Amino acid sequence: MSPYAHITGWGMAIPERILTNDHLSQMVETSDQWIQEMTGIRERRIVSENQTTASLATEASLQALEVANLKPSELDLIIVSTSSPEHIFPSTACIVQDQLGATKAGAYDLMAACTGFIYALASGAQAIQSSAARNVLVIGSETLSRFTNWKDRNTCILFGDGAGAFVLQASDQPGGVLSSILRSDGSGGDLLSLPAGGSQMPASQETVQNGQHYIHMNGREVFRFATRVIAQATREAVEAAKLTLDDVSLIIPHQANIRIIETAARGLNVPMERFMINIDRYGNTSTASIPIAACEAIEQGKLKAGDRVVFVGFGAGLTWGATLVEWSGPILPEKVIYPWSYRLWIRVRSALLRLVRQIEGVIWGQQPKNRT
Ligand code: ACO
Repeated sequence: MSPYAHITGWGMAIPERILTNDHLSQMVETSDQWIQEMTGIRERRIVSENQTTASLATEASLQALEVANLKPSELDLIIVSTSSPEHIFPSTACIVQDQLGATKAGAYDLMAACTGFIYALASGAQAIQSSAARNVLVIGSETLSRFTNWKDRNTCILFGDGAGAFVLQASDQPGGVLSSILRSDGSGGDLLSLPAGGSQMPASQETVQNGQHYIHMNGREVFRFATRVIAQATREAVEAAKLTLDDVSLIIPHQANIRIIETAARGLNVPMERFMINIDRYGNTSTASIPIAACEAIEQGKLKAGDRVVFVGFGAGLTWGATLVEWSGPILPEKVIYPWSYRLWIRVRSALLRLVRQIEGVIWGQQPKNRT
């Protein structure tokens, strides 16, 4: 029988710096009242100069590993979902692998915009269910503030930075990820995009001058799309698990706009109390929003072991998807692990690996000369 993929650890990382609607109204023509009424957002967090997508991801992951009581070296796979990676390559996942000292893990990035965490969770669960991996770290991390045009009031009011991480572990006990629905429609790609910097439009002086390295969005169309797919994907995920909406105690949607969530709640005929909402404090943190909201739901006692929860997301691509999970809670530890305590060793190990590579480069670099 295939193993079940249980979520046994969780963590989040949020920058300290708060950007309120009043701050934004000093930057573009907008107001706190307009933003709150149209989106439900009061404030969002913005990274400091020395924070990046990988550093937030690492912080959230260390918390998740501590909850799961798992050493970084026990991980088989790390999946980082992000639309604001450190580079096109190397992957952010490899940087996180190095920062964690996850010496036995494969690592890759996955990009499905704000639906990314749903895609990553499904991929991680499938790796466990197929017995390819036993311990998987799934991360959603974003620093979209670095790709935001702070003069564009259509977009700059929406986004915030943050990261969330889950540890998935194999078990013979039924539960964990019960179903996943992944969908896409590339014909709507132009509705939400970051046009330049890829192979179709490489970076040039012109692309920079034209602001094509910033997020571009047709808000009205994205809104219409989102309200349609949240209810649809939630229903499909529940049906795929052979359950009904009454079996689900909490829905954790991507936090993009409170009005989108309210419309979806009406469509599903589920009261807003059964939706987890924290958009007021963080704005839209893209692929990080679902795991961050999950961490806060646990903290607030809204998500407990044995509960069934639906995670549902939508975003650029267009992409959307939902996952139904029977929440497990942490596995009782045989001995307590503090992943933070390995950090010094991990840095030393990483520095040593770099040094060895440099020495090897000097030695091997001279060989061709010697041979000629
Ligand atoms: N402050 C004040 N007024 C504004 C602002 C602002 N920040 N932005 C727009 N307006 C004005 C417009 O100029 C317009 O004025 P007019 O009627 O005088 O012309 C009016 O408000 C309405 O403008 P719309 O753009 O049509 O506003 P809309 O009702 O669509 O609301 C919003 C805009 C909040 C962005 C909404 O479209 C939305 O939330 N869309 C979904 C966006 C989203 O969720 N994106 C993320 C997807 S996930 C991912 O993959 C990243």
